[in-house]
This record gives sequence, structure tokens and C-alpha cells, in this order.
Amino acid sequence: MADDAQPPTTMKAWVAVRLGTPRRAMQLQPAWPVPPPPTGANILVRVAYAALNPADVGFLSFLSPLLPFRRTPVPGLDFSGTVVQAGPDVAGLGVGARVCGALSVGMVATNSGTLAEYIVVPEGLVAVVPRGMGMREAAGLGIVGQTAVIAHREAGGMGSGSSRVLVNGASGGLGAMVTQIAKGRGAWVVGVCSGGNGEFVRGLGADETIDYTAHEPLYEFLAQKHGDEQQQFDYVFDCVGHQVLYERSPAFLKPGGKYISLVGGKTHGVLPVLKNNLWPKFLWGTPRTYKILGLAPAGEYMREVAKLVEDGVIKKVPIDSEYSMEQAVEGYERVITKRARGKVVVKVAP
Ligand SMILES: NC(=O)c1ccc[n+]([C@@H]2O[C@H](COP(=O)([O-])OP(=O)(O)OC[C@H]3O[C@@H](n4cnc5c(N)ncnc54)[C@H](OP(=O)(O)O)[C@@H]3O)[C@@H](O)[C@H]2O)c1
Repeated sequence: MADDAQPPTTMKAWVAVRLGTPRRAMQLQPAWPVPPPPTGANILVRVAYAALNPADVGFLSFLSPLLPFRRTPVPGLDFSGTVVQAGPDVAGLGVGARVCGALSVGMVATNSGTLAEYIVVPEGLVAVVPRGMGMREAAGLGIVGQTAVIAHREAGGMGSGSSRVLVNGASGGLGAMVTQIAKGRGAWVVGVCSGGNGEFVRGLGADETIDYTAHEPLYEFLAQKHGDEQQQFDYVFDCVGHQVLYERSPAFLKPGGKYISLVGGKTHGVLPVLKNNLWPKFLWGTPRTYKILGLAPAGEYMREVAKLVEDGVIKKVPIDSEYSMEQAVEGYERVITKRARGKVVVKVAP
């Protein structure tokens, strides 16, 4: 293999050759072309780890028909790695810098995703890997860390130390970030997860956990346990996408509270999203504020995530499982189970 200053001309990369599940759609190419030397303010990064996201699976199966110009896409949004070449306009990141981030959907649509040994990324989209953090964990910060950041920006009033927060799906990659940031900002945090993950979620900082498998339906349990004014929540962060939880939220969410859904319209359903936002409250609409957020990855968010790590707010990036480059399909199959506790990562560099 060539040294870092002289990248090879070919590399290993996973390529989507047809639509479908990862097993059907993806093929490992042993000699895919390495991107040409970066121009402008771009950097060539040798990828150490990629982290997998549910969105990747969606792109493989449903988004590709909308992108007919994308003939041989490489999947993957999240990465960590080392800068091996810098374009002439790169200001701050030299060869050897350890960086992490998430590609924008547009980049994956028109260029290459992160399940490849080398990627070209704009310098402005990445952050330096936080001090003391390994490449494995850093790869898992991108999409979920940035989404948690925009979620907490949406909950702008939080931070007085008296906010009460419910995180639905607290044990997943996203829920783990939302939980830690809420706790770090002084909120009282209740995490919803299955019973076996309770200790794990309390380890992330949650003050209480609710085993949703033992308290069905969850909205009734919440109405009983958190129905009093003192016990009601200021914010619900929904990382699962439960429409009924929003519709029943007046029983446990304060009148001035916010229901923030982080799952995206495809998971939640387009009609519920329209209904929650547009249906007038005086015509039996749910009398609580509803926001659904979709992330457009940005360097500004990534650097805020890195700072939250360095400030000790994000204390850990839980890794559910690690797969080799050759096993990336198995990694996606773990994601598809929706049982991952934290992030599923792929070790890209040998
Ligand atoms: N808006 C955006 O831009 C954006 C960004 C990132 C992610 N997302 C979306 O957010 C969702 C979560 O993402 P993720 O990366 O965290 O996924 P993930 O890591 O695959 O989530 C898995 C976790 O979900 C939990 N879970 C599954 N069903 C649950 C239920 N009924 N109630 C409570 N917890 C449940 C599981 O916990 P148990 O095993 O304990 O049940 C598991 O720990 C996905 O739909 C993803 O597409 C959206």
C-alpha cells in the first residue's frame, strides 16, 4: 500500500449496484478508483471508521430511483479519518489531521459515501477529532450528534436546570446523544427504552427510565405517572416516531411544552406530520407544539458536537458493535433490527 502522502490509485469501496436491502444492493469492489487530488478547500481523507445510520438503508432502497444520475453510489454518511492531501485553499487542516464528520445527503447522492477507504470532503464540513477520543467513537458522532445539537437548539429554553425532558428511544445512537446533552444542560431526564437497556440509559445520565415493554400503552403510563403539573414534561424528544404519543401528549406535556420529533417524515408518516403542523388546534388538533426536524449536516454543528465532547457534556459514544469492511452488510442488518444500543461502526482502514 502507498504511504499517506501518495494515496494509491484504487481502493476498497462498497457500491450500490441495484435497489433493495443492503444484502441485495451492495457489492464490495476491491479496486474502486481513489478520488483525484482535492481541489479548492477540499481534503482527501483516509477513512478509519464509518458509522452506519438507518438513513443509509433508506437511500439504498427508496431514494435511488429519485436520483437516476447516480449510477454507482457508495453508501455511508458518517466517518472518522486522517487528512492525506489538502486542496490549495484549505486553511486550517494539514496532512495528518484527525477529522470526523457527516457527509451531506447531496454529497452521497452525487459523489461517494463513507464506506470507502478514501473520500473527498470540504474542509468546512468536518471537525477535528475531540481530544482523548478514538477514531472508532469519533465516527459515531456525526449524524446523531449533529441531530441532537439541532434538537437542543429547537428546545432553546432548556438549560435553566429545571426543565423536565422525556427521551423516547433513549438507548439508540440518537437517543444516547440527546440524553447526554439534556443531562449536561441540567435537565431532569426520563429515558424510554426496553427493560434490558435501563441501566445503560441511566449510565448515560438519565435520572429515570421507563421500560416501554412493561408499560403498554406508554401514553397511558405517562398520563398516570407524569400527569400532575409538577411531573409533566417541558420537552419530549421522540427518536422512535410515535404519532399516538404526540396525540396523547397533553396528558403529560406542559401546555407551553414542545414535542420534538427527530425521526423524519418518512418514519413518522407524511400525513401525520402535515396534520400535526397544519390542523387547527380549535378543530380538535392536539393542543401542543409539534416540531419535526431533519438534519442537513454542517461543519458548524459538527464542531459544536466536538466541543460538547471536549466540555464533558457528551461523555461517551456507545458502540453497539463493530464490523470489518468486508462485513458491512452484516452491520446494516444489525441496524435494521432497530435493537442497536448506540452506534454500529465499520472499521474501514485495515
Ligand atoms: N431527523 C434526522 O435528521 C435524523 C437523524 C438521525 C436519525 N434519525 C432517525 O431517528 C431514528 C433513531 O435513529 P437511531 O440512529 O438512534 O436508530 P437506532 O440506533 O437504530 O435505534 C435503535 C434503538 O431504538 C430503540 N427502540 C426501538 N423501538 C423502540 C420503541 N418502540 N420505544 C423505545 N425505543 C425503541 C431500541 O431500544 P430497545 O432495544 O431498548 O427497544 C434501540 O436501542 C431513526 O428513525 C432514524 O432514521 C433522524
